[in-house]
Amino acid sequence: MKQAANQSSRVPNESEIWALLLELANRARAGAPLATPCGLRLDDLGRLESVPAERGWLPADVRAWFETSVRGDHELFRLLELYLPLCVGHGCQEFVLGHLGQSLDGQIAAASGASRYVTGPENIRHMHRLRALSDAVVVGASTIEFDDPELTTRLVPGNSPVRVVIDPQLRLAHDRRVFRDDRARTLLVTRASRTPCAGVAGVELIQVPDADGLLSVPAMLTELRRRGLRRLFIEGGGVTVSHFLCARAFTRLHITVSPVFLGAGRPGISLPPIHDMNDALRPSVRRFDSGNDVLFDFSFGPRNLEE
Ligand SMILES: NC(=O)c1ccc[n+]([C@@H]2O[C@H](COP(=O)([O-])OP(=O)(O)OC[C@H]3O[C@@H](n4cnc5c(N)ncnc54)[C@H](OP(=O)(O)O)[C@@H]3O)[C@@H](O)[C@H]2O)c1
Repeated sequence: MKQAANQSSRVPNESEIWALLLELANRARAGAPLATPCGLRLDDLGRLESVPAERGWLPADVRAWFETSVRGDHELFRLLELYLPLCVGHGCQEFVLGHLGQSLDGQIAAASGASRYVTGPENIRHMHRLRALSDAVVVGASTIEFDDPELTTRLVPGNSPVRVVIDPQLRLAHDRRVFRDDRARTLLVTRASRTPCAGVAGVELIQVPDADGLLSVPAMLTELRRRGLRRLFIEGGGVTVSHFLCARAFTRLHITVSPVFLGAGRPGISLPPIHDMNDALRPSVRRFDSGNDVLFDFSFGPRNLEE
């Protein structure tokens, strides 16, 4: 690739790369994802600036940028390779990304519901990064019940996403953190047939129809997109992620496998049985080391959802 004479020869560090990824995600969010040469780089003070295409760090071909600017630095290359599919190209204006951290025996939590932490610190940081790159983070009622998570980006720079809780029976106690704190907006998804009693103050209720006894995943996505939430991170648990996978809703799915056996606990992915190996779901996959864990990044293609 032709390098312009006045391009910085300095290799960006990890926080600069992350800042660049956040900026690219913001462009995608604003409906203008980087898909052509745009001359994006950081200036000497670490601020993002737009420059003529030939002076940018990010020329026409992102892969070429990998091979020139950050060649030899494995960690930076990994950061870019892992997150760029969520940040550049027309497809990244809207995605549905799932994640589960599981044991070798396919469990995401112990039988008691304890899950802190199945995977290592690198993967916890990865989840915070995925939150920062997303418009909304979606979890099922049992995750809120057992973990009482904040669902914020406190471990990395970047804004916390809108928090979406799927609670079809409105069974969750109102003292959960996502309902109490004001670190991010919270939406509560429930059945269309459900007559809401006293709602949670400051929490918007979204009612969606049933499909085969479950809340319809396509209807949920439509409601979220109607509210401008198009980059969606489905963070767990296993029941929720399995419903999205069953509905063929995912663009990508990250499964991080930790070298630990948990015994019979709370399962990760659980799908209806198949009887013929030709019916097995075989998405394309990339593998990344994440501390002692291995992260599988599955890609399902852009038009996976049967609406
Ligand atoms: N390791 C990880 O990556 C990870 C991530 C998150 C959570 N966890 C752990 O996993 C456990 C919770 O996970 P889980 O799999 O048991 O449950 P979950 O996915 O957190 O929540 C499942 C519940 O959410 C509601 N729900 C979700 N999608 C629905 C749909 N399409 N239609 C209707 N209802 C829907 C249902 O509520 P009702 O029950 O009211 O019907 C369902 O039973 C906890 O122990 C937590 O600590 C681990």
